[in-house]
Amino acid sequence: TRKINIAIDGFSSCGKSTMAKQLAKKLNYTYVDSGAMYRAITLYFLRNHIDWTDITEVEEALKNISLYFKVNSQTGISEIHLNDENVEYVIRDLVIAEKVSEVAAIRQVREFAVKQQQEIGKQKGVIMDGRDIGTTVFPEAELKIFMTADIAVRVERRFKELYAKNPNVTIEEVKTNLEMRDYIDSNREFSPLRKADDAIIIDNTNLTPNEQLTKVLDLFKVAL
Ligand code: C5P
Repeated sequence: TRKINIAIDGFSSCGKSTMAKQLAKKLNYTYVDSGAMYRAITLYFLRNHIDWTDITEVEEALKNISLYFKVNSQTGISEIHLNDENVEYVIRDLVIAEKVSEVAAIRQVREFAVKQQQEIGKQKGVIMDGRDIGTTVFPEAELKIFMTADIAVRVERRFKELYAKNPNVTIEEVKTNLEMRDYIDSNREFSPLRKADDAIIIDNTNLTPNEQLTKVLDLFKVAL
């Protein structure tokens, strides 16, 4: 059977990864979380005290970074590895979320990540979520979704996730972070967050994960 690539873009905490994972499971496709790559690079920069305003330092640092995804055989979830270390869980911290948009705005960082994302896409049957997948990474993707949801709903969802791991986190902090990332991601010079002209908008403010899945599966059948 023919396999296609699916691009899922949108603002922070719109439920992109929830949908991408559901869909990947249903279709037996490969899910790739492109944001995890930018988060892992940010983790490396922070740990190694890289001054990312200095492009030479950035270029040198990128030479020492190797990223790959590996499926956890117990959970079936694809987890990102930074220089052979599983960093899937550390990169979800708010400390990373507070810096990642700055790092992801750097041209050299984007070129580094996009090249690897396009390489993965060659196998087809890839569902990738991010900010520039439909516009830059897979401009030829057969199906492109652009997700949105009301800010209040997004804050609530992300707050619950973060609070479960760290009860010191506040709603205000989470809201400020989402708004800041959306602003930086939408206004940066290189491949900003944009809806591709041929992307289909899904607003999931009032959709359950199941209703959302039904909607995308219908779109998938048409795209195939
Ligand atoms: O998807 P997630 O929220 O984990 O992404 C974290 C950050 O990585 C985003 O806020 C954005 O700055 C950056 N990103 C990006 N391009 C992508 C995916 C993520 O710039 N394709």
